[in-house]
Amino acid sequence: MTTLEATNPLALDLARALDPVTLANKIGLEPEPWQEQVLRSRYPRILLNCHRQAGKSTIAGLLAVHVALYQPGSLILLLSPAQRQSQELFKKAIHAYRALGRPVPPETENRLALELENGSRIVSLPGQEATVRSFSNVRLLVVDEAARVPDELYFSVRPMLAVSKGRLVAMSTPFGRRGWWYDAHRGEAEWERYEIPATDCSRISQAFLDEEKATLGEWWFNQEYLCEFMDAATSAFALEDIERMFTEEVEPWTLSSAWT
Ligand SMILES: Nc1ncnc2c1ncn2[C@@H]1O[C@H](COP(=O)(O)OP(=O)(O)OP(=O)(O)O)[C@@H](O)[C@H]1O
Ligand SMILES: [Mg+2]
Repeated sequence: MTTLEATNPLALDLARALDPVTLANKIGLEPEPWQEQVLRSRYPRILLNCHRQAGKSTIAGLLAVHVALYQPGSLILLLSPAQRQSQELFKKAIHAYRALGRPVPPETENRLALELENGSRIVSLPGQEATVRSFSNVRLLVVDEAARVPDELYFSVRPMLAVSKGRLVAMSTPFGRRGWWYDAHRGEAEWERYEIPATDCSRISQAFLDEEKATLGEWWFNQEYLCEFMDAATSAFALEDIERMFTEEVEPWTLSSAWT
């Protein structure tokens, strides 16, 4: 227990409400500088172009919990190309919520949704346009593996932010020079843009990166670890073939699932 926790729990709760970084610290997470900036950002649109295993989902899960706890009545949606990936992100949010000791009690807590007594909800969505249309008044929309979220799915969820003036956090490792996320990355529209290559990550050694480069080859290495939008023409695989690996029918394989 910290001194402030013992002497003035209200002041500590206020600090956590104002600064999500204190929430991260409470669960033993020391955010990287870019993660701190994301947690503290007030931008309505945030684009995270980060290397694999950078900590995108971890920080977005924590942000979702912060909004749910401190903005009562919020609807937070987690969207990915496939339900399983949304659930992975949802697990990060649930993990943070439980590690914090469920500061606002749950009304419903299951594999797909967390509903709190303060009226906030965090919902993990399937990656299908037809089934995500029913939501409105969204306070925070998190799009994970955004480079693989089809344009039609992205365009169908954007209107959910209109009335509520909700925020949008879209994060990914690049996946070719096409689609809405690539356009958002290089376009004129108002986004707070982050680009985090693995060479900036204190948790990944140069020796590991050297090994990955030797194994994956330059094309994949530049995409997965250096956040570069690579040209499909120079790829050894057709992007469409790779894309099929990310449909609902096929279970996604991720580096994180292999490492954790
Ligand atoms: N600030 C941090 N300090 C220590 N560990 C961290 C930090 N941020 C993330 N991690 C850990 O790094 C690993 C990868 O995190 P996470 O899954 O959030 O990354 P990601 O960018 O979403 O990865 P992927 O590209 O595979 O989806 C996890 O084990 C997570 O707990
Ligand atoms: Mg992730």
